[in-house]
Amino acid sequence: MKSIKGIILAGGYGSRLYPLTLGVSKQLLPVYDKPMIYYPLSTLMQAGIIDILIISTKNDISKFEKLLGNGTNLGIKLSYAIQENPNGIAEALIIASDFILHENICLILGDNIFHGDNFIHNLEKAKVNLSQGYSTIFGIDVENPNDFGVIELNSKNKIKKIIEKPKTDFGSLIVTGLYYFTNDAIKIAKNLKPSLRGELEITDINNSFLNQDKLKLIRLNSEIVWTDTGTYNSLISASQYFKDYEIKYSKKIACIEEIAYRRGYIDEFRLKEIAQSMINSDYGKYLNNLAINED
Ligand code: DAU
Repeated sequence: MKSIKGIILAGGYGSRLYPLTLGVSKQLLPVYDKPMIYYPLSTLMQAGIIDILIISTKNDISKFEKLLGNGTNLGIKLSYAIQENPNGIAEALIIASDFILHENICLILGDNIFHGDNFIHNLEKAKVNLSQGYSTIFGIDVENPNDFGVIELNSKNKIKKIIEKPKTDFGSLIVTGLYYFTNDAIKIAKNLKPSLRGELEITDINNSFLNQDKLKLIRLNSEIVWTDTGTYNSLISASQYFKDYEIKYSKKIACIEEIAYRRGYIDEFRLKEIAQSMINSDYGKYLNNLAINED
C-alpha cells in the first residue's frame, strides 16, 4: 500500500494581515502560546503522517528550519522547499513532486487550524478513501462562505461543484485547507492553467477529481473548531479560544512534543531534554511535568 506524505504550505505574502506580516511570515505568528505552524503540523502528526515537506518563501524558509529543524527532535522527518512566488496553492503539488514521488498526499495550509475530540476519526476515514482510490476534502459550514471555496450540493447532498470565492450565494458549506489526494493530483497540477487571478487553483484540482468521480466529502460537524486565521479578528479569537481551552482543561493543544511522545516518535529522555531547553517558559514547564509524571 502507498504511504501518505505530508505537505505544509506556509508561503504567501500574508498581505491581509499587514503590517503584522511585513517582517515575519504569517505562519510563524503566535496563536496563543505557540507559532501558528504548530497547529497544522500537529494535525499531520496526529494523522500518523511523519514525512513532511514544508514549503515557504525564499525569505522565510530558513526561519521555519530554525524553528523545527530536520524533525529529529520530534522523531519525524521534515524537509523544506521554496515557492519563488505565490503562484497558487496547487503549485505546492508541483514543487513537492520530487518529494512525493509515487506516494499519496496530505496537503494542509499553514494557516489552517482544526480542533475537536473526534477530528482524528475524520482523518482515518480519509485514509480509507485513499486506499480505495478516492481523494477527500473536508467541508464545514461558516458565516462568510464567499471568502472561501464554496461547495454546491445537488439534491442528493452530493457535491455538484466547487466555486472559488463566488460572487453569488451557493450555501454556507466551504472547503477547508486540508486535502487528502491520490498521487494523480501531481499530474493534474502540472496540467493546470492559471486562473483569471493568475493562480494555480486548488479548487481546480478538487473539481478535476470531482469530474472523474474520485472526490469524497467529509463534513465536519459543529463539534469541530476550524479557522484559517486570515484576519486580525480570527487570529485573536483563535488565541483566545486556545488560551481558554488550555486553562480550563490543563492540557495543551497542538503541543507537537507531547504528540511525538504520546505516539511513541520520541522517548521520555528526549522529551525531558526538550523540556529543559525551554524550562523558563510555561510551555517548557508543561513538557517537564509530562516527563516527570511518566516517571
Ligand atoms: O482556508 C481554506 C481556503 O484556502 C479554501 O476554502 C479555498 O478554496 C482556498 O483557495 C484557500 O483560500 P484562501 O483565500 O484562504 O487562500 P490564500 O491565498 O489566503 O492562501 C492560503 C494559505 O496558503 C496562506 O497561508 C498562504 C498560503 N499560500 C497561498 C498561495 C496562493 C502559499 O503559500 N502560496 C500561494 O501561492
